[in-house]
Amino acid sequence: MRIAVLASGTGSNFEAIMIAKREGVVTDDICLLFSDQKQALVLEKAKKYGVPSVSFSLHDFSSKELYEKKLRDLLVSKKIDFVVLAGYMKILGSVMLETYANRIINIHPSLLPSFPGRHGIKDAFTYGVKVTGVTIHYVDDGVDTGPIIAQKAVEIKTYDTLETLETKIHSAEHVLYPQVIAKLTKNENKKENF
Ligand code: GAR
Repeated sequence: MRIAVLASGTGSNFEAIMIAKREGVVTDDICLLFSDQKQALVLEKAKKYGVPSVSFSLHDFSSKELYEKKLRDLLVSKKIDFVVLAGYMKILGSVMLETYANRIINIHPSLLPSFPGRHGIKDAFTYGVKVTGVTIHYVDDGVDTGPIIAQKAVEIKTYDTLETLETKIHSAEHVLYPQVIAKLTKNENKKENF
């Protein structure tokens, strides 16, 4: 499988996928890193791991549709089979969803359907739940919706702070995402339970 990773930020999940690739857990080709944020740290990580990267911003286009068509055309031109969102903070529209139907997955730092959106960790912490976690799901046109592929629970202990919780969630993400990618792509992207 030829995989593209889409990311907007730090890229710790991208790095976890690349480490898993180096260790032979992920066997697919990570062919492209795309970021919609030209200053994102993930672009440095792509360089570090020798993954070709491209960045352009929604603001460079007169409409979201044109932005997304450019992105879709880029992925198609690189013969990408499967798209992994790793902290990509934009909602995908019909252009991408139609071209890559059932071939786009996302990771979210809560146990969906609880706490969707940009601040999944903080929202769960502030609410006071005792268990939160990580969800990996197929992407549809909603915000952090779509069929769930895998989840991992993370307990919030009384001594946890937002910072310690963030660390625990990210550690869980870095284990789960590479495992799911490895399993999904080996099974030719069949929807299955983990
Ligand atoms: C991750 O925690 C991911 O779950 C979250 O963004 C972070 C990206 O971190 N995604 C969402 O909140 C999607 N709604 P990273 O850039 O270090 O991989």
